Amino acid sequence: MILDRASLAAQWDVASVRADFPILGQQVNGHPLVYLDNAATAQKPLAVIERLDAYYRTENANIHRGVHALSQEATGAYEAARASVAKFIGTPESRSCIFTRNATEAINLVAATWGSANIGAGDEIVVSHMEHHANIVPWQLLADRVGATIKVIPVTDIGELDLDALPGLLTERVKLLSLCHVSNSLGTINPVEQIIPLAKTKGITVLIDGAQSTAHFPVNVSALGCDFLVFSGHKVCGPTGIGVLWGKPELLNAMPPYQGGGDMIDRVSFDGTTYRQIPERFEAGTPHIAGAIGLGAAVEYLMARDQAALDAYERELLGYATEQLKAIKGLKIYGESAHKVSVVSFVIDGVHPADLGTMLDMDGIAIRTGHHCTMPLWARFGLEGSARASFAFYNTLEEVDALVKSIKKAQMMLG
Ligand code: ALA
Repeated sequence: MILDRASLAAQWDVASVRADFPILGQQVNGHPLVYLDNAATAQKPLAVIERLDAYYRTENANIHRGVHALSQEATGAYEAARASVAKFIGTPESRSCIFTRNATEAINLVAATWGSANIGAGDEIVVSHMEHHANIVPWQLLADRVGATIKVIPVTDIGELDLDALPGLLTERVKLLSLCHVSNSLGTINPVEQIIPLAKTKGITVLIDGAQSTAHFPVNVSALGCDFLVFSGHKVCGPTGIGVLWGKPELLNAMPPYQGGGDMIDRVSFDGTTYRQIPERFEAGTPHIAGAIGLGAAVEYLMARDQAALDAYERELLGYATEQLKAIKGLKIYGESAHKVSVVSFVIDGVHPADLGTMLDMDGIAIRTGHHCTMPLWARFGLEGSARASFAFYNTLEEVDALVKSIKKAQMMLG
């Protein structure tokens, strides 16, 4: 592939995008930082950093509780962030967006509440072989508790869902399909637009794990027709410790509460307690107010980007990285779907991923190594794990070159 870097630069001014992310300007181990661990967590733009700073400097107060000015200001900012999140995922109802700690907590919430109320002995839960542990273990805990069974959609050799197996798996015993939109290890974008309607015609509730998709392209819950969507703030350039559970309001309001405490109650007495409707129903105690406000700033930042140009830019990064990495002798890429985000997992003959990660770090290059919280997936490929370079819209083609150069150096020393 011959790259026209000039026309790419005209579409997406990566230098000015990078200027929004102060951390990218620093040196690590004497080299300019090359941050390629975006699937683990994304870096934060000034818009988020400054919003957090302003909140703590001028607005900090507890929310939903005080009549005083600061409390009302903080409440307004927190609820404005909820409205931004609602817009970000395409729902007109911001009350259907529950703030959680992260995607993991959101899935655990659904498993503990909706799951306990709706899944019983003999029922089945379908997940896929490419799920993150966060979309496996909560269902195993539930299944063990109630006597349900977990069924697994297989993954093909190129790292796609085996859709031929799906109709046979979606039996009348299945109550829930819980599926990642994008695989954090393979980068595969699953065809949820096809899968969700199939499950819905069989009356199956569908949860989509959007932890990786929301970082790369717009996700619209109204168009998808799923029942639940979860994602983490820190992967969409927001703060850590804040995430989102979206659910259809009628489902959420019918679910038993998750945690008990302040703000989630209607009336409390020793004769019995009643609970509020969403969103407060699932936000017991003082929430991560600053985190939610920071997440609001993050999704506003993302929504202000030119999505078509961002897509084209990330596709170029992925195409170039794939081509350059494949040219390295002994390197094999796992996850070769034509429909994938800019995540490249690979192993190199004779080089342990952890050793490679350590060598790359000495050149200031941050990648992830290991099982990426997808042990069953790697077992399916006969691996313990991989090296993984995951690119964001602020990475550059020159950083791909730096990665390739450093891998070749490490290969000479370790191979
Ligand atoms: N789930 C995150 C990752 O893929 C942490 O790295």
